[in-house]
Amino acid sequence: MSVEQIFEGQTVLITGAAGGFGKSASALFAERGANLVLSDYNADGLAALAASLEKDGHKVTTLAGSVAEEDHCRETVELAMERFGRLDVAINNAGIGHDAAKTAQIDSKQAHMTVQVDLMGVFYGMKYQIREMEKAHGQDGRICSILNVASLAGLSGAPTLGMYAAAKFGVVGLTKSAAIEYARRGIRINAICPAFARTPMVEDGLLAAGGGTKEAEDFLTRGIPMRRLAEPEEITRSMLWICDPRNTFMTGQAVALDGGTSAQ
Ligand SMILES: NC(=O)c1ccc[n+]([C@@H]2O[C@H](COP(=O)([O-])OP(=O)(O)OC[C@H]3O[C@@H](n4cnc5c(N)ncnc54)[C@H](O)[C@@H]3O)[C@@H](O)[C@H]2O)c1
Repeated sequence: MSVEQIFEGQTVLITGAAGGFGKSASALFAERGANLVLSDYNADGLAALAASLEKDGHKVTTLAGSVAEEDHCRETVELAMERFGRLDVAINNAGIGHDAAKTAQIDSKQAHMTVQVDLMGVFYGMKYQIREMEKAHGQDGRICSILNVASLAGLSGAPTLGMYAAAKFGVVGLTKSAAIEYARRGIRINAICPAFARTPMVEDGLLAAGGGTKEAEDFLTRGIPMRRLAEPEEITRSMLWICDPRNTFMTGQAVALDGGTSAQ
């Protein structure tokens, strides 16, 4: 069965593309007709992903670098314009965590880096994405979409992940503020707030720190009513409907994708 080409002719920019959500999102958007601008700190992972998407006939351009650098974020937007002449969707997904520790024990360098990547990286991205999207709306009335990947830790406290939570709360605050600012300027701006998902961030981080066993996974998911991790595609499929050009009235939302956790 053919997949509906809902992003045909559109350019979708994804940061953190070589990671768990990023790879999955890249494949889903490409299958639906999008031209992709992919960025990641991991240059080898990014090149491998691009090669595999191109082998399947998708149009992809990449830029390796860190979202913690404003220049890199500006250059990804410039690349979208140079290569594809437009930017329709931006998914600010790149993110890192810090070692689990109570607030008084969090390493200050890690705290700083977490804020720089998870919050400043989203701000730098949005700054340049919004400028192009606003221009495009002025020219042809197009409605563009920005989706920021926050976390359930951006909606409620996350013991031992305090500075990660602080950065993700910041992402939600920025998302809602900008959504109001640009609501009549042709840009929808939303965030998703996933609970733990089976990606390298969790498997190599929190699960590995707990010994990587079934018991460690049970412990991690004990507060989730579904009592399991999300699979990456359960999160990235939601990206599709949030960014779907037909989803025209949704903006300023921070959508929990959490197996029922925030309903408790
Ligand atoms: N996996 C989860 O359980 C979970 C839950 C809630 C939110 N999130 C968020 O989802 C997003 C994606 O995480 P993931 O689970 O796919 O993790 P991941 O570690 O698999 O992927 C993250 C990607 O971001 C890249 N990256 C890291 N620092 C970067 C930087 N400075 N500049 C550019 N790229 C950088 C990494 O190289 C990696 O490819 C993150 O923002 C994370 O905080 C994840």
